[in-house]
Amino acid sequence: MNRRTFLALAALTGATGPLTGCGTNTGTAPGRPAPPPRDPSTPLRIPPLLHPEADADGVRTFELAMAAGQFALKPGRPTTTWGFNGPYLGPTLRASRGDRIAMTVHNRLPEATTVHWHGTRLPAAMDGGPHQLIEPGASWTPGWTIDQPAATTWYHPHPHGETAQHVYRGLAGLFIIDDDQDPQAGRLPSTYGVDDIPLILQDKTLTADGALDGDPLAGPYGILGDRMLVNGTTDARFDVTTGRVRLRLLNAANARVYNLAFADGRPLRVIGTDGGLLPAPVETDTLTLSPGERAEVLVDFDPLDSAVLRTVDNGLDLARGDFDLLRFTAAARLRTAPALPATLGGPPAIVPPDGATVRQFLLNGRDNTINGRPMDMDRIDEVVPVDAVEIWEIRNGGGLSHNFHIHEVAFQLLDDDGRPAPGYAGGHKDTVFVPANSTVRLAVQFGPYSDPVEPYMYHCHVLRHEDGGMMGQFVTVEPGTEDEVPRTYRGTGRAG
Ligand code: C2O
Ligand code: CU
Ligand code: CU
Repeated sequence: MNRRTFLALAALTGATGPLTGCGTNTGTAPGRPAPPPRDPSTPLRIPPLLHPEADADGVRTFELAMAAGQFALKPGRPTTTWGFNGPYLGPTLRASRGDRIAMTVHNRLPEATTVHWHGTRLPAAMDGGPHQLIEPGASWTPGWTIDQPAATTWYHPHPHGETAQHVYRGLAGLFIIDDDQDPQAGRLPSTYGVDDIPLILQDKTLTADGALDGDPLAGPYGILGDRMLVNGTTDARFDVTTGRVRLRLLNAANARVYNLAFADGRPLRVIGTDGGLLPAPVETDTLTLSPGERAEVLVDFDPLDSAVLRTVDNGLDLARGDFDLLRFTAAARLRTAPALPATLGGPPAIVPPDGATVRQFLLNGRDNTINGRPMDMDRIDEVVPVDAVEIWEIRNGGGLSHNFHIHEVAFQLLDDDGRPAPGYAGGHKDTVFVPANSTVRLAVQFGPYSDPVEPYMYHCHVLRHEDGGMMGQFVTVEPGTEDEVPRTYRGTGRAG
């Protein structure tokens, strides 16, 4: 094979590796000119898909094992990282509304940890919060029935005080929930890794040897790295084969806010946010995601296009720096995309009833407290009736950036008139940015799972703040029983 054929093939197949690895082209033949510099980009890693068949009882069982491994965060420099079923990140789990699922989570790490299903609607005992510790060598087997709209959710450890470290070392993965009953679903690109692309965004600080550097618990925010990874790939390139691509974006960084834009200004059509699809696509040229947030966007390409997705400094302390994240290179012939849907359906608006309960939360970044108190695993802070729709007001009274995530729920950001905020900001969410010196008001839809003992969490998703104590606990219980609920944690505090 000559060099030209190799390059053409490499472009088609996304083949990796230096050319010297190709037996016929060692570059040592006398008189042969030195090969031109290699394209520095690396094909985007696509996390493997995990979609187990249902067993005789109709249960899909996902197997996840956390362990340390060797992974090259810098090309050619393998270093120790943590991952699920591999050295870095984890497989993309995929299941549908109505599925009964079971998880088997093995901890082969040297430390206890937990696995939380962020964005998933489920009973608190299955949620994988700080109480559901999995000791080294042990495993945990939660299970539930998926009952929520189609959405891009994710999973990551949640041990109190250790989340920043465990996520930084590599433990995170996507969990895609489909809704096969949704008539809109078939009109959106949905071939995983081809026109439906997971993009897990993270930033790191690396040593010269490519090892993880920096202290996720240092300074006001922990890590704000200068090495951009997409699905664990640096200088990533994606080879586009279709005229329209759906991107499932996840901010899995410890602290960074991504202010996403294409270098050539091409529009992003936002079709979904954390909790599901929007009523209709919303076109934008920049899309901001704080840690833990997701978005689904459609992007159009012409044949032979080359387009770079970047994060752009918008003046915010957590969005510092302009960085290229991923280059899209389109083939000479692209498969035609179906017409852009005018409407998407999406879950119904969350409407607080007249006289809805209003709860206020004051975030203080000086001492990482909420309403003056740091996280206490033995204290239940709030008791909420199941299926309630409440208004939660989150106030950031200081100069540091925060965001706010609530487990299990879906919420909508309200504007000043008490209606859902315009554009994609008004979509269903579970995590929202709370800028310095501002207040956000949320219409929060709680779930149907009653448990007076096991709590869910709410917290800032800047992991340094969360680990530092900016977190609280709530239980959801049968209406009318709120006053009987113990305000101290009475559970066993062990998952297995
Ligand atoms: Cu993504 Cu409580 O976490
Ligand atoms: Cu969560
Ligand atoms: Cu914060």
